[in-house]
Amino acid sequence: SRKGSQLVRKHREQKERKKAQHKHWELAGTKLGDIMGVKKKEEEDLSGGKPVGEDGKVDYRAEQKFADHMKEKSEASSDFAKKKTLLEQRQYLPIFAVRQQLLNIIRDNSIVIVVGETGSGKTTQLTQYLHEDGYTSYGMVGCTQPRRVAAMSVAKRVSEEIGTNLGEEVGYAIRFEDCTSEKTLIKYMTDGILLRESLRESDLDHYSAVIMDEAHERSLNTDVLFGLLREVVVLCQDTMTSTISLFAAFFGNVPIFHIPGRTFPVDILFSKTPQEDYVEASVKQALQIHLSGLIGDILIFMPGQEDIEIVERLEDLENAPALAVLPIYSQLPSDLQAKIFQKAPDGVRKCIVATNIAETSLTVDGIMFVVDSGYCKLKVFNPRIGMDALQVYPISQANANQRSGRAGRTGPGQCYRLYTQSAYKNEMLTTTIPEIQRTNLANVVLLLKSLGVQDLLLFHFMDPPPEDNMLNSMYQLWILGALDNTGALTPTGRLMVEFPLDPALSKMLIVSCDMGCSADILIVVSMLSVPAIFYRPKGREEESDQVREKFSVPESDHLTYLNVYMQWKNNNYSSVWCNEHFIHTKAMRKQRMNLISCGSDWDIIRKCICAAYFHQAAKLKGIGEYVNVRTGMPCHLHPTSSLFGMGYTPDYIIYHELVMTTKEYMQCVTAVDGEWLAELGPMFYSIKHAGKSRQVRKDYAEPCSLHTRFIHNPAISIQRGNVSVS
Ligand code: CDP
Ligand code: MG
Repeated sequence: SRKGSQLVRKHREQKERKKAQHKHWELAGTKLGDIMGVKKKEEEDLSGGKPVGEDGKVDYRAEQKFADHMKEKSEASSDFAKKKTLLEQRQYLPIFAVRQQLLNIIRDNSIVIVVGETGSGKTTQLTQYLHEDGYTSYGMVGCTQPRRVAAMSVAKRVSEEIGTNLGEEVGYAIRFEDCTSEKTLIKYMTDGILLRESLRESDLDHYSAVIMDEAHERSLNTDVLFGLLREVVVLCQDTMTSTISLFAAFFGNVPIFHIPGRTFPVDILFSKTPQEDYVEASVKQALQIHLSGLIGDILIFMPGQEDIEIVERLEDLENAPALAVLPIYSQLPSDLQAKIFQKAPDGVRKCIVATNIAETSLTVDGIMFVVDSGYCKLKVFNPRIGMDALQVYPISQANANQRSGRAGRTGPGQCYRLYTQSAYKNEMLTTTIPEIQRTNLANVVLLLKSLGVQDLLLFHFMDPPPEDNMLNSMYQLWILGALDNTGALTPTGRLMVEFPLDPALSKMLIVSCDMGCSADILIVVSMLSVPAIFYRPKGREEESDQVREKFSVPESDHLTYLNVYMQWKNNNYSSVWCNEHFIHTKAMRKQRMNLISCGSDWDIIRKCICAAYFHQAAKLKGIGEYVNVRTGMPCHLHPTSSLFGMGYTPDYIIYHELVMTTKEYMQCVTAVDGEWLAELGPMFYSIKHAGKSRQVRKDYAEPCSLHTRFIHNPAISIQRGNVSVS
């Protein structure tokens, strides 16, 4: 608990009388402010803003007068960052005007909800204000972010503002990377990190204050943290008071502090007709802006990383004024990420191509034009395949408004929406469905169980997940031996919590220790935990495919990964290979496991992989055709698989994940022995004995007949949060 300066102490005494354990949990959200700010302008557009044509449809060629106006404004503001010192920039932020009020309200309340426009200074300033006000004398000021990139870049910015080296007074922690030290007072981290810290220290005593940023985004981890922190903080709350805000209602009667906004008008231009190809349309739109002569940087929103790479072809422009095309997405190496915040040289226009990471988490100054594809990628639990699938979905109206707001930060701007106004009004959801209601909850279940939350149904979720999702996740954990028949955590389950990995991957690592191949599996797991390791650049597809084929291990994509790693190692970890993903391996070694390599006996590795993925098995059915062993659903080898088109088709395979594009594709596949499936997944499979005595076969390619136990719709029931299987 916290010691205090006079004011703080007074407050403490007050609270102690209530026997409350008090900390400061602040929620910084942008939703309310942002939506209101942009909506107003949109209404203006509907009533005939300048760039809308006579027929009420959008004319993308803005009038000359408007253009001149924009030019003046943007010239004025693009000088801004150059001329002002960091301190002056800090003092110019909207939040600075309410600094003292904010500190007062935080001092007087355990929980405060802070709402303000994107770019008003919540993320970078709040932590510093608390630090300046003495909070860091009693523990760190923590600030969570749903995204890794945001945590890193904001920490960097704040360390610059304070004038220290990153990792000293101001640091960050993300999965696989802890950039903090003994000295650290302000710590930015992903919400996943804080969730894990709460495992070890449930009252988070290291912190004097915690800011949960981007709360409106409702990421899975933030949502779970709400539930956990509520138990820490709300001990003294009497009854729930319903207020306008969901958060306020959730935490009881807590104050909502609005930072007065400062935004410039944004003209919103809808597409006249639906766009068939959003990548094509975005490129075209960006070019049109670029060649228009108007000054100001461009921000393009694309759903995913692959699309961002496509848009890089903007770079190939010849005979056009200089354009610096900068992609930004969560998996981008951090040195490249930093580039988006740097000022482009004079006469060069920045064109940032981003995923929805740039919607609220990152504020880039100088953006005058936003091009919105209208799509984002979401992780959604697909009950048919029983797991999460990352798919492209239309954004919500809230996303759209947030995106357009990015153009009005430092001057008036324009937002080009590559969808029709009617699509916006009639087809888009008002807000995105919270992650907790649409994804696999296996890790959440594991975590809560290990925190001693026995009854998951009574856990205080802001929006409880659908019971089916919860059930399915528990079932998956039961299959993997993490939960026993009563729903309690098994020793394996307890070990699994420690790994920041998918349950099946944790299981694979744990099993590998017993099987004597942990060093090898560690590499496989690391390779699976990083973004795609193979590149396939445009125009050099064949060349890259050939290089890739050289690594192929015919019976397994997992082993192919291992092979790639081994060769990289044999080449002294040459810089060609030296990418971020290999750092992960290093970080994984911290897990203090017995590292044993099985040498060249790769069958053991395949068996180990089978031990964790037997529930995702497919059986050969005709030439090159596979069906899921349990469900009979057809599934296909991905063309990038080592097993694809090799004329080698094992009877049984397991897969890492299913991707759904035109067909259901199994990605990352390994041939397994039918007997292994029966041995490792006895709840699903057993050997058919055709009269002969059972023999352990060495050759997995030999036909082996398996019975499938029909328990894919098991009599499994959820009772007070426990699984029971009959
Ligand atoms: O959190 P909020 O959206 O309210 O604003 P912020 O992220 O604290 O941004 C405040 C200011 O810091 C903006 O003007 C940003 O451009 C600037 N900033 C920056 O220059 N570099 C960063 N990595 C983060 C913020
Ligand atoms: Mg922020």
